[in-house]
Amino acid sequence: MSSAVEMDAGTFDRLRNLIYERSGITLGDGKKALLTSRLQSRMRTLGLDGYRSYLEYVLADGNGDELIELLDAVSTNVTSFFREPQHFHFLTRDFNRQTKAGVKRYRVWSAASSSGEEPYTIAMTLLEQMPAPPIDVKILATDISTRVLSACKEAVYEREKLKTVPSELRSRFFEPVEVDGQRMARVKDPLRRMVSFTRLNLSTPPFPMKGPFDVIFCRNVMIYFDPQVKKALLTDMHRLLRPGGFLIIGHAESLSGLGLPFSLVEPAVYVRA
Ligand SMILES: C[S@@+](CC[C@H](N)C(=O)[O-])C[C@H]1O[C@@H](n2cnc3c(N)ncnc32)[C@H](O)[C@@H]1O
Repeated sequence: MSSAVEMDAGTFDRLRNLIYERSGITLGDGKKALLTSRLQSRMRTLGLDGYRSYLEYVLADGNGDELIELLDAVSTNVTSFFREPQHFHFLTRDFNRQTKAGVKRYRVWSAASSSGEEPYTIAMTLLEQMPAPPIDVKILATDISTRVLSACKEAVYEREKLKTVPSELRSRFFEPVEVDGQRMARVKDPLRRMVSFTRLNLSTPPFPMKGPFDVIFCRNVMIYFDPQVKKALLTDMHRLLRPGGFLIIGHAESLSGLGLPFSLVEPAVYVRA
């Protein structure tokens, strides 16, 4: 079989070590087929004939562009608007509590934003509850993948993706747009203006932001990390949250055993001590 379709064990180990070192993403022994299939189109684009040549190409690429492409290829970007909706009910309650208490500034970080569905859901939830006069609300969206960050910025989605957005919010916050003859939906300006985007690797704390954040969403990304990487990133998130601020993780994830000063307030929602 040609080396373009087979990856030898040594190349797999070197690629997964590189991926771990640069992103914290752990690829178990069973992930060879996944890596193989995800790298195929990249190798075709580059005109490379095998995985070993690809590894050499990444290592030789001094400016790190190919490493970003590699991490783009291995990260799983599945997401949706209003995913795990109880988190947005929680956010609504916290925001209302804070505005009633007279807070004038509210900051949220979507720490693995993927293609934007999570930060725009946060923005819709907060705009829906905005008091009059409005307070200063900002959402920071970060991800390691440049591909998903450009989707975030473009803010154009297939209409199918809007199925999980309640219809009154759909008409308030999205407008129809045609892209290459296809009818799509674009996030309207007031919502887009609330969100800023930047590339950030969660496996390399301390993070450059100053904070403090009222809420951090770090959902469905820690599943790829080992306890050491998880603990380091959560320790820095603790620093960046205001005392009494909230950390929201995915329902399939947990902080147990890490010994960090967060207390569970409801499933997948923690308060910072
Ligand atoms: C499954 S998506 C989760 C999206 C969203 N938080 C949600 O729950 O719907 C995981 C995201 O984590 C990002 N990711 C993976 N490793 C990362 C790292 N080391 N630093 C930052 N983002 C990372 C991926 O690019 C991907 O967009």
